[in-house]
Amino acid sequence: MIIFGASGDLTKRKLIPSLYNLAVANLLCQKFAIVGFAVDAMTTEVFRQQLTEDMKNFAETPIEPKIWDWFLERIYYIQGDFQDAGAFERLKQQLDHVDHEHGTEGNRLHYLAVAPRFFGEIVNQLGKASMVIQENGQWSRVVIEKPFGHDLESAQKLNRDIKQVLSEDQIFRIDHYLGKETVQNIMVFRFGNSVFEPIWNRHFIDHVQITAAETVGVEHRGGYYDTAGALRDMVPNHLFQLLSLTAMEPPVSFDADAVRQEQADVLHAIQPTSPEDVLRKMVRGQYGAGTTEEGPAVAYRAEPGVAPDSNTETFAALKLSIDNWRWAGVPFYLRTGKRMAQRVTEIAIQFCRPPFVLFRNTPIKNLDPNRLVIQIQPEEGITLGFSAKLPGPVMNTGLVKMDFDYARDFGKTYSSGYERLLYDCMTGDATLSQRADMVEAGWAVIQPVLDVWKALPERNFPNYASGSWGPAAAAELMSRDGREWRTADPS
Ligand code: BG6
Repeated sequence: MIIFGASGDLTKRKLIPSLYNLAVANLLCQKFAIVGFAVDAMTTEVFRQQLTEDMKNFAETPIEPKIWDWFLERIYYIQGDFQDAGAFERLKQQLDHVDHEHGTEGNRLHYLAVAPRFFGEIVNQLGKASMVIQENGQWSRVVIEKPFGHDLESAQKLNRDIKQVLSEDQIFRIDHYLGKETVQNIMVFRFGNSVFEPIWNRHFIDHVQITAAETVGVEHRGGYYDTAGALRDMVPNHLFQLLSLTAMEPPVSFDADAVRQEQADVLHAIQPTSPEDVLRKMVRGQYGAGTTEEGPAVAYRAEPGVAPDSNTETFAALKLSIDNWRWAGVPFYLRTGKRMAQRVTEIAIQFCRPPFVLFRNTPIKNLDPNRLVIQIQPEEGITLGFSAKLPGPVMNTGLVKMDFDYARDFGKTYSSGYERLLYDCMTGDATLSQRADMVEAGWAVIQPVLDVWKALPERNFPNYASGSWGPAAAAELMSRDGREWRTADPS
């Protein structure tokens, strides 16, 4: 495995701890080695020492010295510039050496843990150095993580550029949301059980809410975030993964292409957004100062790396419609934001109300609709809320829950979320990777929103306080439809 950008954050925080976890689980091939490649001057020895130090901070479980030593012996470092063809030649020589030392047989997993502007360049250099040729049974794959493009046009260009060098089956566009157990469980929940699928459609479901709320601000990433914003950062990738897994048709098999085709079809079925729709159905927000769970918080415009008059949104809410037989007329409300009142990522499926109020001559005035909530984080599980009769001689109801809790029912597992993704890339299973058309379909959905928001900068930013549930317009988006966001209230 070659890690481009090996001296950066992702390597020490996620990649190395996940690879180590795979080694502990005996899922790492014995014929395995890592070559780190980055611009910082460093020897292999120093790289190994640094990683050993970093593991003390980032490993989730105590390190087993025997496994760590085995792992460390397989780690190398090459210093080089991504634009320098000579550096790629040196890298190639190192890889030949590694093949010889560790029996890695010429198989390559190139992981681009670098700033997106280098994606095209690195793939190009790999091509020029003949490092991605698949022959004699050897494979060579490239892993790319979001952001894949900045908008539809740049995503299309990046796809075109890398496809000049790589075939689609060599490209693994990964999304860390798909590494989350609860996200992978959506498919098992829907298609591994027979009770839910018959009611998973417009006849029974009133609407769907998908929320990814964070309490943190932009942290140390102001520079990047200010050029991206909440919509680009979260929606065409993470939220659309959740949406497509929730809304897809049952695939004919669990093969990568069968699953990905169904996900792509959902994205293609999202109703195109007109400029009027953007004004009526999409809401943006930016946080001001306020108080969060962690204490007082500064306004977005006062964050390091952010322009003091920035018009970048830190909150986005969208109402989308999926034009197909299953979902016609069922709105999908999506929202994401930073510095929100609570950290919660979940999918809430709200079922239709009972067709009439049988209990009208009793104290029961309104029956709450059933709601199925797939909790992704920080709680991980699934809850179904339903009405039950309150004990006593008078007819009244209370809302109760049936619930599945990952930690309680299956025990706590330690995972960075990258283990499964890396494992799949190594074994060549592309089910959890995005095909070019899926990435472009996601961008195509939000492109009209990006265009209108750019043409009409918001004048009232900041429009929500840190520690709140977002701008008032987001609540109005729901109340106009006679609905409301599910907030902290579990039901
Ligand atoms: C990243 C975004 O892709 O996902 C971040 O760039 C965001 O802004 C993060 O904070 C959220 O990931 P998670 O796993 O904490 O929900």
